[in-house]
Amino acid sequence: MFTAVEMAPRDPILGLNEQYAADGNPHKVNLGVGVYYDDNGKLPLLECVKAAEEDMMKTPSARGYLPIDGIAAYDNAVKGLVFGADSEPVTSGRVATVQAIGGTGGLKVGADFLKKLSPDATVLISDPSWENHRALFTSAGFKVESYPYYDAERRGVNFDGMLAALNAAAAGTIVVLHACCHNPTGYDITAAQWDQVVDVVKAKQLTAFLDMAYQGFGHGIAEDGAVIGKFVDAGLTFFVSTSFSKSFSLYGERVGALSVLCASKEEAGRVLSQLKIAIRTNYSNPPIHGGAVVAAVLNDPARRAVWEKELGEMRARIKAMRQKFVDGLKAAGVKEDMSFITTQIGMFSYSGLTKDQMVRLRNEFGVYGTDTGRMCVAALNSKNIDYVCQSVAKVM
Ligand code: LMR
Repeated sequence: MFTAVEMAPRDPILGLNEQYAADGNPHKVNLGVGVYYDDNGKLPLLECVKAAEEDMMKTPSARGYLPIDGIAAYDNAVKGLVFGADSEPVTSGRVATVQAIGGTGGLKVGADFLKKLSPDATVLISDPSWENHRALFTSAGFKVESYPYYDAERRGVNFDGMLAALNAAAAGTIVVLHACCHNPTGYDITAAQWDQVVDVVKAKQLTAFLDMAYQGFGHGIAEDGAVIGKFVDAGLTFFVSTSFSKSFSLYGERVGALSVLCASKEEAGRVLSQLKIAIRTNYSNPPIHGGAVVAAVLNDPARRAVWEKELGEMRARIKAMRQKFVDGLKAAGVKEDMSFITTQIGMFSYSGLTKDQMVRLRNEFGVYGTDTGRMCVAALNSKNIDYVCQSVAKVM
């Protein structure tokens, strides 16, 4: 039965974890996957999470099935975080939010729903984009194309190219946009450029799907979320996927969500009913623990304040490591101006290194980044930074 089954290639991101785990190099550093590690190289257990879990353990409870769309208190907290608790979309009830299996699950539930709604639509993703965007929308049955994004020469965004491609897109095209902390490049468009994107999305009747996996890792929770308000103000209906993997350091709990802003409360009810079918036919209903923890933190002002502080500390440490990376590369003899690393934001730096250089980094030095040159600066720390800088200098 399986004789004709071909060996699939390793996942370009998670596949590196497997290779890293098998690597015997004692100096190895994993800058592949987008995971935040503290200065001791440890995955942090956030204080707000620990406190919420300790509280939950005081009254252990049996685990029944959750509703298909998840924990209501969680979905409401997500709505508040994404749109603002007192915002018109939330108070008028025209947001349909479902708990999902990570941000990836939110994207897939949205993709499955969209495939039923607009089966012939094309999906546009940025060039480059998160490796899984193309695979995910393709597996949902869509034709996936890209719009220009990264400008390698100017080290930034080819905004004119991006805008021209959106302008040329057919009505109904689904446009996947990174709400903040663009993955993989680390380059975001400016607030004024977002205004232009919103104008084109509206004028050309495109469907915006905002992937917001890194809210809080750019400039702040509200600052990073501000782009959502622009789409709301323009009177658009659109999709937002949320992830708490990174912002709560709850990667393995797979806590995410999908929110769909609809034209009315009644419409949101109908959309929700369809999202529930997408969930039910994929995995029935979501798991409890991660969503319960996030809800317990976001819905408690004191705990939420702790979370905001902890997220702010992660953001600040990443920023500091960016500067150390630039300084360290210079000290290690790199002649090229690497200061662009500090103008990028979020967890990643698109280093500009070639595939050959990335493969050498991995094979000769045990420093893991993706073949496209993406490095997770959130995994740099005061102990591994010198080694990483020297290794990078040697392959450059
Ligand atoms: C990444 O881009 O490394 C993260 O979003 C993790 C993943 O699932 O790929």
